[in-house]
Amino acid sequence: MKILGIESSCDECAAAVVEDGTRVLSNVVATQIPFHAKYNGVVPEIASRMHTEWIDGVVKEALEKAGLGSADLDGVAATAHPGLLGSLLVGLSFAKAFAWARGLPFIAINHMLAHLYAPQLAPGAAAEYPFLGLLVSGGHSIICRVDDFDNITVLGTTIDDAVGEAFDKVSKFYGFGYPGGAYIDKLAKAGDPTAFRFPMPSLHKGDHPYDVSYSGLKTAVINQLDQFRNRNTVTVRPEDIAASFQKTAVEILLRSLFRAAEDTGLSTIVAGGGVAANSYLRSRLAERTDLRCVFPPLEFCGDNGAMVAGIGYRYLVRGDRSPLNVVASARVQGFKKRYP
Ligand code: KG4
Ligand code: ZN
Repeated sequence: MKILGIESSCDECAAAVVEDGTRVLSNVVATQIPFHAKYNGVVPEIASRMHTEWIDGVVKEALEKAGLGSADLDGVAATAHPGLLGSLLVGLSFAKAFAWARGLPFIAINHMLAHLYAPQLAPGAAAEYPFLGLLVSGGHSIICRVDDFDNITVLGTTIDDAVGEAFDKVSKFYGFGYPGGAYIDKLAKAGDPTAFRFPMPSLHKGDHPYDVSYSGLKTAVINQLDQFRNRNTVTVRPEDIAASFQKTAVEILLRSLFRAAEDTGLSTIVAGGGVAANSYLRSRLAERTDLRCVFPPLEFCGDNGAMVAGIGYRYLVRGDRSPLNVVASARVQGFKKRYP
């Protein structure tokens, strides 16, 4: 079965064709990053307008690269939630119209479940259920038990900022570049992770053993900025800030993740989302030889249509269909929480 997957939840306008849930025939990602970079963040109105302009060409290119016409497709999948509402609406509406006009089955996809599916797009990377999922992106930081491709139980989540958001905000304040994750990751390689001691949140009492928090770390790192700006008088190397921040950000995740692994007895961890590209996170997890850690290939860590087509296949082959009046939604309940 060949499925067209469409992804437009944020600032990547993406489409892909995947065969039988694992064989990627094409994967086209048109990034809007240069258009948002000068604002140091995604401007939702610009994002949705650009998706509107690009989506037709991106889908055509995905079909061309796969060497297929629309008559060769067996179904269409598109991200419906969570994400920026205006952006989601473009890809979702396009996909519905595309499927309806050609009489193809259509399925609406949860973006975070698609990120979790992404490692399965690499040959031999499939993990047996159940496993622990680590979903880390610009909008989410979720530790979950995964019983099937469509069945996750959130064990812990962020109570404020997402981990990727913290990378992006720190980078914005220090002027490292946008989006921050890749810049900080690169700078950190030349830095000393012990140069600064940033605070770890103490959340792990009572009902919140696996939750994480990033607003305290973000504020502490940003407060160092004054020293950074006056670095003629005080020696503060940007590389050291990046390395110390990155280390703390990753250790916050790992503390909850390792605790969850111990408590659940699950020894396989599958990571997904843009922050799963982080080299320090990957190397720290590689040290745990008692755990099997599965990461998506780098090209499938960030937003892409292949993960949407891949998980879409799993639903469609089971006979699931979404009605054409399915709505886009910015949030998914339970993926973020706040203390009362
Ligand atoms: O999954 P994604 O492409 O979009 C969302 O669904 O949010 O994730 C984007 C996030 C951004 O916050 C970006 O800074 C972060 O992933 N990111 C990274 C790295 N590459 C991207 N964070 C840390 N290290 C990286 N190498
Ligand atoms: Zn994403």
